[in-house]
Amino acid sequence: MLKLARFYNPRGLRIIKGEGQYVWDHDGRKYLDCHTGHGAAFLGHRNRWVVEELKRQLDEITIASPVFQTDIMEEAVQALEKILPKNLTYFYLLNAGSEAVELALKTARKVTGRKKFISFINAFHGRTMAALGVTWNRKYREGYDPFPWDVEFLPYDDPEAVETAVDEDTAAVIAEPVQGEGGLAAASPEFLKAIREACDRTGALMILDEVQSGFGRTGVLWAHQRAGVRPDILVAGKSIGGGFPVSLTAFSEEVGSKLAPGAHGSTFGGNPLALAALKGGITAFFEDRVAEKAERMGALLRRTLEEVVEESSLARRVRGMGLMIGVELRINPTKAIQVLQQKGIIALRAGLTVLRFLPPYVINEEDVENIGSTLKEALNELAQQK
Ligand SMILES: Cc1ncc(COP(=O)(O)O)c(C=O)c1O
Repeated sequence: MLKLARFYNPRGLRIIKGEGQYVWDHDGRKYLDCHTGHGAAFLGHRNRWVVEELKRQLDEITIASPVFQTDIMEEAVQALEKILPKNLTYFYLLNAGSEAVELALKTARKVTGRKKFISFINAFHGRTMAALGVTWNRKYREGYDPFPWDVEFLPYDDPEAVETAVDEDTAAVIAEPVQGEGGLAAASPEFLKAIREACDRTGALMILDEVQSGFGRTGVLWAHQRAGVRPDILVAGKSIGGGFPVSLTAFSEEVGSKLAPGAHGSTFGGNPLALAALKGGITAFFEDRVAEKAERMGALLRRTLEEVVEESSLARRVRGMGLMIGVELRINPTKAIQVLQQKGIIALRAGLTVLRFLPPYVINEEDVENIGSTLKEALNELAQQK
């Protein structure tokens, strides 16, 4: 029998349909989806603007290399101009977050001529070899070394460590403004500013990985904007395609102008369907005030989770930002995830101890209440089993 490689532990749930913030199993049971395909369905399942654009594009053309001009490419570029930080004047589209990180790192290596990278403890940047090289978790790295280039891992959110470690040999510093897989630590503005200053001082490039934190999930378009810094390279993925595989690497004028034909490429990167999804997603972002809603629902969810933490002996604290939020537990989060799933809420873990919620921006007050009461119930049950 043909078997799927077991890179993830199966959840024992067959999902047959998704709409907005909900998914249904084959028995017709409804679940509140706070997993959203590792955060990719932040715009909700079957977001109407994304579906409309995809349907339209399916009737036109589904594959064309970026060496040809297409209407949808022009439309997607116009849409992208509305969301990319103004100093980033070049972009390239790929399919997965790891690929976009890979391009960011390759570019830093090539443009600076340097081979040393700085990353952070608990960082997660993906599974391709360079991306894995700047990913911290030993479980993901084991057996795959050597990785390309030297990587130094510094404590996260420690401006002084950055100041000391970044030097004239550093090609780039890569950081997530809010760490996703690593446990939902959020960077202080001082930390991001320290990276910017160290890069300015040494000629290293500042790469911000907003694959998980970007496109409104933390309540602002890009999480790093809260710190008022400008990266040299920005990486995005997950949410930007509204659930369709799209990722993006954007470069400053100085970096992007040095890129030439042959330095990178992709068969499917920026294919017409991906462009349509991207355009639809960006339309949704503005038409439906996605960031504003995420901020409001994120604040409500935070208050709700804080109440749960106060009452449960198994919970330590709330972590994260906006709708990239979770609860640090005193027990293995997998148990809590299983109980929540039995009770109709799908969540995921972050790091060793954090129960993570990545709901879509369309969740409402009732959904948040449901998360609060169900989590309270689940933790009570687990506390009694201890
Ligand atoms: C911050 C960050 N970077 C990169 C990636 C890798 O993205 P992908 O799984 O699409 O390759 C992820 C995935 O979780 C991520 O959270």
